[in-house]
Amino acid sequence: MPTPPFSAIILAAGKGTRMKSDLPKVLHRVAGVSMLAHVIHAVAPLKPHKIITVVAPDMPEVEKAAKDAHPAVTCAVQPKQLGTADAVKAARKALGNSKGDVIILFGDTPLITSQTIGKALKALNGAKQPSVVVVGIRPGDPTGYGRLVTDAKGALTHIVEEKDATPAERKIGLCNSGIMAVKGSALFTLLDKVKPQNAQKEYYLTDIIAIARKAKLICHVAEADATELSGINSRAQLAACEAAMQERLRAKAMANGATLIDPASVFLSADTTLGRDVTIQPGVYFGPGVTVGDHVEIRAYSHIEGTTLHDHVTVGPFARLRPGTVIESGARIGNFVEVKNATLHAGAKANHLSYIGDAEVGRDSNIGAGTITCNYDGYRKSKTVIGEHVFIGSNSALVAPVTIADGAIVAAGSTITEDIAKDALVLARSAQTPISGGAAKFRKKRQKP
Ligand code: UD1
Ligand code: CA
Repeated sequence: MPTPPFSAIILAAGKGTRMKSDLPKVLHRVAGVSMLAHVIHAVAPLKPHKIITVVAPDMPEVEKAAKDAHPAVTCAVQPKQLGTADAVKAARKALGNSKGDVIILFGDTPLITSQTIGKALKALNGAKQPSVVVVGIRPGDPTGYGRLVTDAKGALTHIVEEKDATPAERKIGLCNSGIMAVKGSALFTLLDKVKPQNAQKEYYLTDIIAIARKAKLICHVAEADATELSGINSRAQLAACEAAMQERLRAKAMANGATLIDPASVFLSADTTLGRDVTIQPGVYFGPGVTVGDHVEIRAYSHIEGTTLHDHVTVGPFARLRPGTVIESGARIGNFVEVKNATLHAGAKANHLSYIGDAEVGRDSNIGAGTITCNYDGYRKSKTVIGEHVFIGSNSALVAPVTIADGAIVAAGSTITEDIAKDALVLARSAQTPISGGAAKFRKKRQKP
């Protein structure tokens, strides 16, 4: 969607007191990604000249999250949180002499889409040549939002914050989403005139509408979807936003050819990638960094993060795949198996009750039930390397670092502490001691009065 040159200012310096959290509000996560990163990811594809995130001085983690979200992001510091107008002013220097329009976004509206931002910028360049476009919404419950006040002709005259509104104004359904597109040439002239004359003694960005009207500049409202632009101020709103985001991600996964048997029970991260003809059974959780190939089946109640699953893989039920896991084509992970920082090459199997950490499992090898890679000695982690066509008998402990060469067989119940040669058969357990008739003798002894 081509738009004229513009820059984005994302406000993220607010304390977010209503979250009652030690974490800055915009770092709370939705679908595994911070709210702020969602906003950055929505604006970046429109290729803004600059993306400036306004942060508070005592929030280095917000600055880091912003820069990690996209390499084009720069940050401007708002020394004191004096309100949204003051926050935009804090970006003045960072904006420098960059020409063009400015879109002001809030770091607490994670559901915003590129399309909506594009529409606001398009409206700013509409035939009537407005100086400001406010994106308006009609939320089911307008509590907490600024209200858009219009004149008899329906033109926007000013915005009134809920705390300053009269009972009549509070009845207005059309609300300020917070998103504004402003002509760069007018922005700072308007902002410089804002005074903190209101219930909260703050510099309100919303006041630029009345100021613009006074200067005979045109202000427009572009209406957008209320769910998409809901601002997150509390934990309850965060949960509602998560639900909306999950619905969006599930719909996308299904549109791309995945079957979600019970969509509502599947949790996806914003970056989860599912291939075609993937089947997801109920209760599956995808943390960040999961890529799933085609024809994969993920059975019920599996927990997966930082993992790549190639085509034709089966996982679960009740599997836990942790970061650094790669399961290659046709390999299988069964119930109660945990895998971390390990690769199972094509056709390998770990079907029951195992821990495979810091390991490599070669093609078509079989890991018996209850096998544990003992990767940690209390101080450091070591690696287990298993070759191709290896058979590890049930309930074996593989004490890393250890290498088991191609074609080897490890007898059940073995504790392996030394490397095993190609095609060797190893028993590493104490010999069995049969006592003929011993059980009968034992029972007789016990049954004596
Ligand atoms: C704001 C709008 C309100 C709108 C609502 C939409 C104003 C005065 N009010 O209210 O009309 O309906 O959003 O969600 O603009 N921030 C700073 N520095 C500050 C204050 C805030 O960077 O000094 C940032 C916050 O981090 C946040 C955003 O600005 O990302 C909005 O601030 P918030 O306090 O949530 O505003 P609302 O009261 O929700
Ligand atoms: Ca807000």
